[in-house]
Amino acid sequence: MKRVKPAVLLTFSLLLGGCSAPAPAASEAPADPASAAVSEEESGRVLIAYFSRAGENWEVGNVAKGNTQIAAEIIAEETGYDLFRIRTVREYPLSYDEMLKVAEEEQKNNERPALRDEAGNFADYDIILLGYPIWWGDMPMAVYTFLESYDFAGKTVYPFNTHAGSGEAGTVRKIREVIPDADVHDGLAITGKDTQNDPDKVRGILQDWLRENGLQVEE
Ligand SMILES: Cc1cc2nc3c(=O)[nH]c(=O)nc-3n(C[C@H](O)[C@H](O)[C@H](O)COP(=O)(O)O)c2cc1C
Repeated sequence: MKRVKPAVLLTFSLLLGGCSAPAPAASEAPADPASAAVSEEESGRVLIAYFSRAGENWEVGNVAKGNTQIAAEIIAEETGYDLFRIRTVREYPLSYDEMLKVAEEEQKNNERPALRDEAGNFADYDIILLGYPIWWGDMPMAVYTFLESYDFAGKTVYPFNTHAGSGEAGTVRKIREVIPDADVHDGLAITGKDTQNDPDKVRGILQDWLRENGLQVEE
């Protein structure tokens, strides 16, 4: 099922208009990315933490697996890194329209939805790949709960997000504000529907991103 709701489209385009595409910071790329890689031994110190929601969503219909989850699992397949899903105690609605309302309310009230699981050995990870969808031009509030629940001092964070046109929507700047003691790299924005409709394309994008950041695992 593919639905386009003019009112929501308008809202998204307003959000899009409000934020220009992020300029990649050339200084953050390793001098010789191809030569950098994570050793098999070090790979246990990298965590993929992501939020994602299954159900009815923008341009993809009613999906069994959320777009960001597909991207996160591709990264895990490519690298063998551990996966941690950020899940809320509260069950979110499967209906897209209902979800829009709930997300808007949570954002308006600056909520910190309670999380269901703990990333038990979080201190053992040096690098966090942080995945999330864009909700109303921002991260889901549960991602704020996650960022505020752990000590990120000294950790390196690589954000990646899925979206329906907003790109990263200024979320990397917000992550830097919430965890100022972490080294937060520029983010990777992926078109959400591509994860469902063209996972090979997304795999290629993620492989390039891992390589460019020296995050691929040595053979
Ligand atoms: C509540 C809600 C709000 C959304 N707001 C935006 C938005 O502001 N900009 C945008 O590009 N996409 C927006 N989307 C689309 C999602 O970012 C996109 O479908 C994403 O890939 C969903 O990832 P997930 O399946 O992992 O949850 C929104 C989706 C939902 C459910």
